[in-house]
Amino acid sequence: MSGTKSIARTAATGGALDREFLAWSTSLPIDIRLLEEDCRGSVAHVQGLRAGGLLTDDEADTLIGALKSLPAKVASGEVVLQADEEDVHMAVESWLREAVGDVAGKLHTGRSRNDQVATDLKLWCRDAVGRLESQIEGVLVAAAAWSQRHAEVVMPAYTHRQVAIPTMASVWMEAALTLGLQRDRALLSGVREELAESPLGGGAVGGTTLPVDTSVSAEALGFERPPANPIDAIGQRDHALLLVFVCARIGLHLGRFSADVIELASDGLVKLGGAIAGGSSMMPHKRNPDLFELVRGQSALRQGELVQLMVTFQGLGAGYHRDLQQDKQVLFAAVDGVIDTLRMIEISLSNFEVLAEPSMRALIAGDAVATDLCEGLVAGGMAFRDAYGRVGALVAAQRDAGKRLADLTAADLEAAGLDPALTERLDPELAAKRRAARFG
Ligand code: ARG
Repeated sequence: MSGTKSIARTAATGGALDREFLAWSTSLPIDIRLLEEDCRGSVAHVQGLRAGGLLTDDEADTLIGALKSLPAKVASGEVVLQADEEDVHMAVESWLREAVGDVAGKLHTGRSRNDQVATDLKLWCRDAVGRLESQIEGVLVAAAAWSQRHAEVVMPAYTHRQVAIPTMASVWMEAALTLGLQRDRALLSGVREELAESPLGGGAVGGTTLPVDTSVSAEALGFERPPANPIDAIGQRDHALLLVFVCARIGLHLGRFSADVIELASDGLVKLGGAIAGGSSMMPHKRNPDLFELVRGQSALRQGELVQLMVTFQGLGAGYHRDLQQDKQVLFAAVDGVIDTLRMIEISLSNFEVLAEPSMRALIAGDAVATDLCEGLVAGGMAFRDAYGRVGALVAAQRDAGKRLADLTAADLEAAGLDPALTERLDPELAAKRRAARFG
């Protein structure tokens, strides 16, 4: 049998792993991304070992110096970690043994890959939360500039994809994009709260009897406290689940915004800048909303990742199971995907406009002021249902005559027995501003 012997195997484990099984099961190609976190976690653990009297100052300094130097060495290509290791944790320990000799054998004192990987993942999640927050901020700033540019633009609000009521473009932007993203950002603070506890000290599942000072390692890594329960510390991934849920919800919000832009562009109310528009290889006239279609498509991937993670965790008992290894690729894909799509939406916001003239035409053609006229009658003392019926009849009569509500003159209103001053209610711009003022 061809096989390979690793540092985490003993006579009791039963010899070397089959090479093909190792190559299939290793997480190194994925968790190499945790190299920096892994070294940082190990440095903190060394500090905990030294504080607990389990390492001399010299030993600790040797280990810390080597561990701190590794990420840059790997990045520059000076060190290539062994590919035939089960994961980044073992690849680092094997390298350390080469680099500093026997003292490397003390690093894993009172520690397991189970609390190690849980720690790395929490550190990665913390960084991801920060990156997501700043990319959301980038979108919010771009959206504010978009709304500024469109401060005077009036457009239709839709129900059932039919023109409903005049609104301001800035009100649409808030509803379609920014308010949802602000709520997502607030949810990220909830993820931060779930990252407060250090897993280091949980060991394999039962902690350790050795005097490792886990408050030292927790503090060195910026955690608020050491683990309260070793089984929970190494086996729970609630923070990752919540983070992937936030990614899925951001995906949903960006997908919804994209769907709106795609439909507005198809209605001729939105003009896409050439910088973000797709062309056709055959039809020379096309200007397609590719960016928004791709972002909407990415939203589907985010929902899938949430399901993947939930299904991975469901049915697992407390503690560590190798199934958990698969959480990383899902988590990385969700965070990478959502950061990239947020950036694309940020770019899009300086590359599309809602067009005032076609929007006004759509408002007029869609009789969007019907409810405003109705409310004008109510303000003059008419019961709502009566006003509703009167305006409905006016809409029908105008349409029969090939006209719209906005074509009504003061004389037409008077002839219908209504107050001629109600022409003021037929202006979509006034209607949109009056409504927006209520929510200012
Ligand atoms: N590669 C593993 C993971 O990513 C590390 C933990 C392995 N622990 C173990 N007991 N085999 O989850």
